[in-house]
Amino acid sequence: MEFRNVSFAYPGMKDEKVIDNVSLIINPGETLAILGSTGCGKSSLVNLIPRFYDATEGQVLVDDVDVRSFNLHSLREKVAVALQKSEIFSVSIGENIRWGNPDADEDEIKQAACTAQAMEFIESKPEGMDTQVTQGGNSLSGGQKQRLAISRAVLKKAEILIFDDTTSALDLKTEAKLYEALKKEHASVTKIIIAQRIASVKDADRIVVLENGKIAACGTHEELLFSSEIYQDIYNSQLKNGGGING
Ligand SMILES: Nc1ncnc2c1ncn2[C@@H]1O[C@H](COP(=O)(O)OP(=O)(O)OP(=O)(O)O)[C@@H](O)[C@H]1O
Ligand SMILES: [Mg+2]
Repeated sequence: MEFRNVSFAYPGMKDEKVIDNVSLIINPGETLAILGSTGCGKSSLVNLIPRFYDATEGQVLVDDVDVRSFNLHSLREKVAVALQKSEIFSVSIGENIRWGNPDADEDEIKQAACTAQAMEFIESKPEGMDTQVTQGGNSLSGGQKQRLAISRAVLKKAEILIFDDTTSALDLKTEAKLYEALKKEHASVTKIIIAQRIASVKDADRIVVLENGKIAACGTHEELLFSSEIYQDIYNSQLKNGGGING
Protein backbone atom coordinates (compact mmCIF):
# COMPACT_ATOMS: atom_id res chain seq x y z
CA MET A 1 0.00 0.00 0.00
CA GLU A 2 1.06 3.57 -0.44
CA PHE A 3 0.64 7.08 0.93
CA ARG A 4 1.31 9.47 -1.94
CA ASN A 5 1.84 13.12 -0.91
CA VAL A 6 -0.88 12.77 1.69
CA SER A 7 -2.02 15.70 3.79
CA PHE A 8 -4.96 15.70 6.12
CA ALA A 9 -6.89 18.17 8.25
CA TYR A 10 -9.96 17.29 10.29
CA PRO A 11 -13.25 18.60 8.88
CA GLY A 12 -13.79 22.25 9.77
CA MET A 13 -10.09 22.69 10.67
CA LYS A 14 -8.67 23.22 7.21
CA ASP A 15 -5.77 25.36 8.38
CA GLU A 16 -4.48 22.76 10.79
CA LYS A 17 -2.75 19.99 8.90
CA VAL A 18 -2.53 16.97 11.15
CA ILE A 19 -0.78 15.00 8.39
CA ASP A 20 1.60 16.99 6.23
CA ASN A 21 2.75 15.65 2.86
CA VAL A 22 3.47 12.06 3.83
CA SER A 23 4.78 9.71 1.14
CA LEU A 24 5.45 6.10 2.02
CA ILE A 25 5.27 2.74 0.29
CA ILE A 26 4.56 -0.29 2.48
CA ASN A 27 5.34 -3.65 0.89
CA PRO A 28 3.19 -6.78 1.13
CA GLY A 29 4.15 -8.80 4.19
CA GLU A 30 6.19 -5.97 5.65
CA THR A 31 5.99 -5.03 9.32
CA LEU A 32 6.06 -1.26 9.49
CA ALA A 33 6.12 0.48 12.84
CA ILE A 34 5.02 4.04 13.45
CA LEU A 35 6.59 5.74 16.42
CA GLY A 36 6.05 9.25 17.67
CA SER A 37 4.93 11.36 20.58
CA THR A 38 1.31 11.71 21.60
CA GLY A 39 -0.71 13.86 19.19
CA CYS A 40 1.81 13.66 16.32
CA GLY A 41 -0.76 12.13 13.97
CA LYS A 42 -0.21 8.35 14.15
CA SER A 43 -3.87 7.37 14.50
CA SER A 44 -4.94 10.03 12.02
CA LEU A 45 -2.54 8.61 9.44
CA VAL A 46 -3.65 4.98 9.66
CA ASN A 47 -7.33 5.95 9.86
CA LEU A 48 -7.05 7.10 6.25
CA ILE A 49 -6.47 3.49 5.11
CA PRO A 50 -9.95 2.09 5.90
CA ARG A 51 -11.37 5.56 5.15
CA PHE A 52 -12.50 6.48 8.64
CA TYR A 53 -11.51 9.85 7.14
CA ASP A 54 -10.36 10.86 3.66
CA ALA A 55 -7.08 12.57 2.85
CA THR A 56 -7.48 16.27 2.10
CA GLU A 57 -4.62 16.18 -0.39
CA GLY A 58 -2.82 13.34 -2.13
CA GLN A 59 -3.79 9.70 -2.37
CA VAL A 60 -3.90 6.59 -0.23
CA LEU A 61 -3.56 3.44 -2.36
CA VAL A 62 -4.20 -0.20 -1.56
CA ASP A 63 -3.14 -2.73 -4.21
CA ASP A 64 -2.29 0.28 -6.40
CA VAL A 65 -5.89 1.51 -6.28
CA ASP A 66 -7.01 4.77 -4.64
CA VAL A 67 -8.99 3.81 -1.54
CA ARG A 68 -11.75 6.15 -2.68
CA SER A 69 -12.28 3.96 -5.77
CA PHE A 70 -13.12 0.86 -3.73
CA ASN A 71 -16.56 -0.03 -2.59
CA LEU A 72 -16.32 0.81 1.13
CA HIS A 73 -17.34 -2.69 2.17
CA SER A 74 -14.67 -4.42 0.08
CA LEU A 75 -12.03 -1.93 1.23
CA ARG A 76 -12.82 -2.65 4.87
CA GLU A 77 -12.69 -6.39 4.19
CA LYS A 78 -9.05 -5.89 3.27
CA VAL A 79 -8.14 -3.99 6.42
CA ALA A 80 -8.35 -5.11 10.04
CA VAL A 81 -7.78 -2.49 12.71
CA ALA A 82 -7.29 -3.06 16.40
CA LEU A 83 -8.22 0.34 17.73
CA GLN A 84 -6.51 2.26 20.48
CA LYS A 85 -9.76 2.13 22.42
CA SER A 86 -11.53 -1.01 21.28
CA GLU A 87 -15.01 -1.71 22.48
CA ILE A 88 -15.50 -4.77 24.62
CA PHE A 89 -19.07 -6.04 24.79
CA SER A 90 -20.90 -7.72 27.65
CA VAL A 91 -21.03 -11.11 25.95
CA SER A 92 -18.67 -14.07 26.31
CA ILE A 93 -14.95 -13.82 25.56
CA GLY A 94 -15.43 -16.02 22.49
CA GLU A 95 -18.24 -13.86 21.15
CA ASN A 96 -16.14 -10.76 21.72
CA ILE A 97 -13.48 -12.26 19.48
CA ARG A 98 -16.00 -13.51 16.90
CA TRP A 99 -17.03 -9.90 16.38
CA GLY A 100 -14.00 -9.68 14.07
CA ASN A 101 -15.51 -12.26 11.74
CA PRO A 102 -19.08 -13.47 12.38
CA ASP A 103 -18.53 -16.52 10.15
CA ALA A 104 -15.58 -17.85 12.14
CA ASP A 105 -15.89 -21.24 13.84
CA GLU A 106 -14.57 -22.17 17.28
CA ASP A 107 -11.24 -23.45 16.01
CA GLU A 108 -10.57 -20.22 14.15
CA ILE A 109 -11.44 -18.20 17.23
CA LYS A 110 -9.04 -20.30 19.30
CA GLN A 111 -6.34 -19.96 16.69
CA ALA A 112 -6.70 -16.16 16.64
CA ALA A 113 -6.56 -16.06 20.44
CA CYS A 114 -3.39 -18.20 20.35
CA THR A 115 -1.71 -15.84 17.89
CA ALA A 116 -2.74 -12.88 20.07
CA GLN A 117 -1.21 -14.57 23.15
CA ALA A 118 -4.63 -14.48 24.79
CA MET A 119 -5.17 -18.22 25.22
CA GLU A 120 -3.34 -18.48 28.52
CA PHE A 121 -5.53 -15.99 30.37
CA ILE A 122 -8.69 -17.24 28.66
CA GLU A 123 -7.98 -20.80 29.81
CA SER A 124 -7.33 -19.58 33.33
CA LYS A 125 -10.93 -18.31 33.55
CA PRO A 126 -13.38 -20.84 35.00
CA GLU A 127 -15.48 -20.98 31.85
CA GLY A 128 -12.75 -20.32 29.30
CA MET A 129 -14.08 -18.90 26.04
CA ASP A 130 -17.61 -18.95 27.49
CA THR A 131 -16.69 -16.63 30.36
CA GLN A 132 -18.99 -13.64 30.37
CA VAL A 133 -17.35 -10.25 30.16
CA THR A 134 -18.92 -7.46 32.16
CA GLN A 135 -19.95 -4.13 30.68
CA GLY A 136 -17.02 -2.28 29.12
CA GLY A 137 -14.73 -5.18 29.93
CA ASN A 138 -14.31 -4.15 33.55
CA SER A 139 -13.65 -7.74 34.54
CA LEU A 140 -10.54 -7.78 32.35
CA SER A 141 -7.16 -6.15 32.76
CA GLY A 142 -5.91 -3.58 30.25
CA GLY A 143 -3.57 -6.09 28.64
CA GLN A 144 -6.31 -8.72 28.44
CA LYS A 145 -8.64 -6.27 26.71
CA GLN A 146 -5.91 -5.38 24.27
CA ARG A 147 -5.33 -9.03 23.46
CA LEU A 148 -9.06 -9.52 22.79
CA ALA A 149 -8.93 -6.58 20.39
CA ILE A 150 -5.88 -8.12 18.72
CA SER A 151 -7.57 -11.56 18.51
CA ARG A 152 -10.53 -9.91 16.86
CA ALA A 153 -8.40 -8.16 14.27
CA VAL A 154 -6.35 -11.31 13.57
CA LEU A 155 -9.55 -13.36 13.15
CA LYS A 156 -10.60 -11.16 10.26
CA LYS A 157 -7.71 -12.56 8.14
CA ALA A 158 -7.36 -9.30 6.27
CA GLU A 159 -4.56 -8.25 3.88
CA ILE A 160 -3.59 -5.32 6.07
CA LEU A 161 -3.43 -5.55 9.84
CA ILE A 162 -3.20 -2.37 11.87
CA PHE A 163 -2.50 -2.22 15.61
CA ASP A 164 -3.11 1.26 16.91
CA ASP A 165 -1.23 1.26 20.20
CA THR A 166 -2.82 -2.03 21.21
CA THR A 167 0.22 -3.59 22.82
CA SER A 168 1.04 -0.81 25.30
CA ALA A 169 -0.23 -2.80 28.29
CA LEU A 170 1.58 -6.02 27.36
CA ASP A 171 4.90 -6.90 28.90
CA LEU A 172 7.78 -7.01 26.43
CA LYS A 173 8.05 -10.79 26.46
CA THR A 174 4.39 -11.32 25.59
CA GLU A 175 4.59 -8.61 22.97
CA ALA A 176 7.61 -10.28 21.37
CA LYS A 177 5.79 -13.63 21.28
CA LEU A 178 2.83 -11.95 19.59
CA TYR A 179 5.00 -10.47 16.84
CA GLU A 180 6.78 -13.77 16.36
CA ALA A 181 3.45 -15.59 15.94
CA LEU A 182 2.21 -12.98 13.52
CA LYS A 183 5.34 -13.22 11.45
CA LYS A 184 5.10 -16.99 11.27
CA GLU A 185 1.36 -17.43 10.81
CA HIS A 186 0.52 -14.31 8.84
CA ALA A 187 3.67 -13.86 6.78
CA SER A 188 1.97 -12.34 3.75
CA VAL A 189 -0.13 -9.86 5.73
CA THR A 190 1.06 -6.25 5.76
CA LYS A 191 1.37 -5.20 9.37
CA ILE A 192 1.31 -1.62 10.61
CA ILE A 193 2.10 -1.25 14.27
CA ILE A 194 1.76 1.99 16.18
CA ALA A 195 3.66 2.12 19.43
CA GLN A 196 5.27 4.50 21.87
CA ARG A 197 8.08 2.24 23.09
CA ILE A 198 11.18 1.65 20.98
CA ALA A 199 11.39 -1.74 22.66
CA SER A 200 8.11 -2.64 20.95
CA VAL A 201 9.21 -1.75 17.45
CA LYS A 202 12.92 -2.44 17.23
CA ASP A 203 12.41 -5.71 15.34
CA ALA A 204 10.05 -4.22 12.74
CA ASP A 205 11.24 -4.28 9.12
CA ARG A 206 11.10 -0.49 9.11
CA ILE A 207 10.28 2.19 11.63
CA VAL A 208 8.75 5.53 10.68
CA VAL A 209 9.22 8.34 13.17
CA LEU A 210 6.34 10.76 12.86
CA GLU A 211 6.71 14.31 14.13
CA ASN A 212 4.01 16.97 13.78
CA GLY A 213 2.36 14.97 11.00
CA LYS A 214 5.57 14.64 8.98
CA ILE A 215 7.92 11.71 8.49
CA ALA A 216 10.98 12.76 10.46
CA ALA A 217 12.92 9.54 9.87
CA CYS A 218 12.46 6.08 8.39
CA GLY A 219 14.62 2.97 8.57
CA THR A 220 15.50 -0.08 10.61
CA HIS A 221 16.26 0.25 14.32
CA GLU A 222 20.00 0.03 13.65
CA GLU A 223 19.88 2.54 10.81
CA LEU A 224 17.90 5.05 12.83
CA LEU A 225 20.06 4.61 15.89
CA PHE A 226 23.06 5.40 13.73
CA SER A 227 21.66 8.24 11.65
CA SER A 228 18.59 9.87 13.19
CA GLU A 229 19.00 12.41 15.93
CA ILE A 230 15.33 12.37 16.85
CA TYR A 231 15.39 8.55 17.15
CA GLN A 232 18.50 8.71 19.30
CA ASP A 233 16.74 11.24 21.54
CA ILE A 234 13.73 8.98 21.98
CA TYR A 235 16.03 6.01 22.58
CA ASN A 236 18.04 7.81 25.23
CA SER A 237 14.98 9.15 27.03
CA GLN A 238 13.37 5.69 27.13
CA LEU A 239 16.61 4.10 28.24
CA LYS A 240 16.83 6.58 31.09
CA ASN A 241 13.27 5.91 32.13
CA GLY A 242 13.89 2.18 32.29
CA GLY A 243 12.09 1.44 29.03
CA GLY A 244 13.69 -1.97 28.92
CA ILE A 245 14.88 -1.42 25.37
CA ASN A 246 17.00 -4.50 25.30
CA GLY A 247 14.15 -6.62 26.56
N1 LIG B 1 -11.61 13.80 15.64
C1 LIG B 1 -10.73 14.79 15.71
N2 LIG B 1 -11.09 16.06 15.42
C2 LIG B 1 -10.22 17.08 15.47
N3 LIG B 1 -8.92 16.93 15.80
C3 LIG B 1 -8.48 15.70 16.09
C4 LIG B 1 -9.36 14.57 16.06
N4 LIG B 1 -8.64 13.47 16.41
C5 LIG B 1 -7.39 13.88 16.63
N5 LIG B 1 -7.27 15.22 16.43
C6 LIG B 1 -6.05 16.02 16.54
O1 LIG B 1 -5.14 15.58 15.54
C7 LIG B 1 -3.81 15.55 16.04
C8 LIG B 1 -3.24 14.16 15.85
O2 LIG B 1 -3.98 13.25 16.63
P1 LIG B 1 -3.78 11.67 16.59
O3 LIG B 1 -4.87 11.07 17.35
O4 LIG B 1 -3.61 11.26 15.18
O5 LIG B 1 -2.38 11.53 17.35
P2 LIG B 1 -1.61 10.22 17.83
O6 LIG B 1 -0.23 10.33 17.30
O7 LIG B 1 -2.40 9.01 17.46
O8 LIG B 1 -1.58 10.42 19.41
P3 LIG B 1 -1.65 9.31 20.60
O9 LIG B 1 -0.28 8.70 20.69
O10 LIG B 1 -1.97 10.12 21.80
O11 LIG B 1 -2.71 8.33 20.23
C9 LIG B 1 -3.88 16.01 17.49
O12 LIG B 1 -3.53 17.34 17.55
C10 LIG B 1 -5.33 15.81 17.85
O13 LIG B 1 -5.74 16.76 18.80
MG1 LIG C 1 -3.40 7.55 18.54
